[in-house]
Amino acid sequence: MRAIVLEGYGGPEVLRWREVPDREPAADEVRVRVHATAVNRADILQRMGGYPPPGPKPEVELPGLEFAGEIDAVGRDVHGFRPGDRVMGLLAGGGYAEYVTTHHRLLMPIPDGLSFEEAAAIPEAWLTAYDALFMWAGARMGDRVLVHAGGSGVGTAATQLARAIGATVWTTVGSAEKAERSRALGAKRAIVYRQEDFVAVLREETGGRGADIILEFVGAPYLARDIEVAAVGGRIVVIGTMGGSHAQVPLGPLLAKRLRIQGTTLRSRPLEAKAALTQDFAVHALPLFAEGVLRPVVDRVFPVQEAAEAHRYMEANRNFGKIVLRVG
Ligand SMILES: NC(=O)c1ccc[n+]([C@@H]2O[C@H](COP(=O)([O-])OP(=O)(O)OC[C@H]3O[C@@H](n4cnc5c(N)ncnc54)[C@H](OP(=O)(O)O)[C@@H]3O)[C@@H](O)[C@H]2O)c1
Repeated sequence: MRAIVLEGYGGPEVLRWREVPDREPAADEVRVRVHATAVNRADILQRMGGYPPPGPKPEVELPGLEFAGEIDAVGRDVHGFRPGDRVMGLLAGGGYAEYVTTHHRLLMPIPDGLSFEEAAAIPEAWLTAYDALFMWAGARMGDRVLVHAGGSGVGTAATQLARAIGATVWTTVGSAEKAERSRALGAKRAIVYRQEDFVAVLREETGGRGADIILEFVGAPYLARDIEVAAVGGRIVVIGTMGGSHAQVPLGPLLAKRLRIQGTTLRSRPLEAKAALTQDFAVHALPLFAEGVLRPVVDRVFPVQEAAEAHRYMEANRNFGKIVLRVG
């Protein structure tokens, strides 16, 4: 089969579409013919040599944390899935490829009415957002939620998930155009961080109470201000560090407001944890896609052979929602 491989670490030019060995599924695995995959910030970090895949170093690194496609072969202990089924799921790598082999408990059926390209926009962004909001932050109806990077793949998912349970959402975004799109997804207000201070806006709009939940993607430059704007008992979930990873923060308000700061990553978790999250999401969130309450936001689709161009597009922060790669 063919796949995008990293021919060294560096700029987008190290991404090469070439022949790699195929693999038969083990007893508890399926092999999927991939129709679409998607780009994540982590792929860019990995490409630059800063985010190696979990486990022993492979001979060649294959990027790609998610896929949507059709089952092509099924291991002998797999029940409930058959060749031809439309499925999607998380991967620890190797998604920019014609085929992937994965454990059957990491599979989700593609909801009716969604194309492969829309489905490929779901696993990594939506499972990350779902996990942060519900598993770590315990989001509930009426919560006031601040979603940084509201135009990111994860941010567009988090905005919709929080709205779906009746929480009020504020986002931060880099432009007026992204702000408009974020409001259309359900944000009460999208704060253009280059023009407005999110602490001042949140304080004013919540009558001084602040945010119960903050999803943090920018990291070091924002953490002290997150603590400042968090409500009493607030939960700050650190999901990304796009702006830096060494923060200096005031501990006084952390104690006084009894705040919790939670870090999380998805890729390195054991199979059991990923499978449990996938199954939980499949039960509670997937039906809402078929009903049209939730929708994956696809910004742009590139042929997989143009993965380098897709990476450049993401690095320029041009996307609102997901950048999808079409395979085949
Ligand atoms: N922990 C996990 O398991 C996990 C899983 C998935 C993703 N993530 C993290 O979640 C974040 C979003 O990932 P994604 O793939 O959804 O991203 P994405 O679609 O590429 O979106 C990222 C957006 O963040 C904004 N941004 C970038 N650098 C920034 C900075 N220094 N300060 C402020 N805003 C900045 C830009 O939007 P504007 O134009 O609006 O500024 C950019 O478009 C990343 O940090 C990623 O590593 C973590």
